[in-house]
Amino acid sequence: MNLKEIAAASAVKLIKDGQIIGLGTGSTMRYALKEIARRIYEDELEILCVPSSLDTQFLAVESGIPLTTFEEHQSIDIDIDGADEVDRDLNLIKGGGAAHTREKIIARHAKRFVVIVDESKVKNKLSMPVPVEVLPFAWKVAESELKKLKGIPKLRKAESKAGPVITDNGNFVLDVDFGEIRNPKKLEEEINAIAGVIENGIFAGMASEVHVGTKKGVIVKRCTRSE
Ligand code: 5RP
Repeated sequence: MNLKEIAAASAVKLIKDGQIIGLGTGSTMRYALKEIARRIYEDELEILCVPSSLDTQFLAVESGIPLTTFEEHQSIDIDIDGADEVDRDLNLIKGGGAAHTREKIIARHAKRFVVIVDESKVKNKLSMPVPVEVLPFAWKVAESELKKLKGIPKLRKAESKAGPVITDNGNFVLDVDFGEIRNPKKLEEEINAIAGVIENGIFAGMASEVHVGTKKGVIVKRCTRSE
């Protein structure tokens, strides 16, 4: 098992019969989907899941994982998702797969938000470019406003075709370099206050726990906030 896989397996162990599970997006999450499918078939685990992206939705259907929607279930028992960076206070940067808007909605409605990463994602401070989903109509003005926050925005380009990446919600993504982020909560709020911004990839103070796959095994870091 690689480090992403052991982190994913550790989180999937938390799932119990009858729960509503949020499914994140990405390569670490793929291992979690595989393990969830195994538990459904081998342990007869009975759950319903809300997927955060079309990618995850298709993979879940292919794997026989039963899905539901927010129309039917507004409260998620456990949300499992990957991250691109995790700081020592368990603030995250997500959105490498351009799915952070739906991922954040699911995480906000989860009783327990469980993050799965390999040890390369754990940093002292967040510092990678922040993915910002923007309405195509407003992307240029949003870009100017992000520069006023001292960010360096770059429109995310599609790899398999000319033009920008289009999210599952029909929007563009700007990856905005702010250097080392001193106050993730403040920056998260400032970015979201810009007209045309749908959601950004800073998840400040949201993770309940982070399962980190390391060469010595899985380390679980828990939130010590008193909310
Ligand atoms: C998608 C995400 C992913 O969870 C994040 O990019 C981590 O992906 P991976 O597990 O492939 O490293 O936020 O929007």
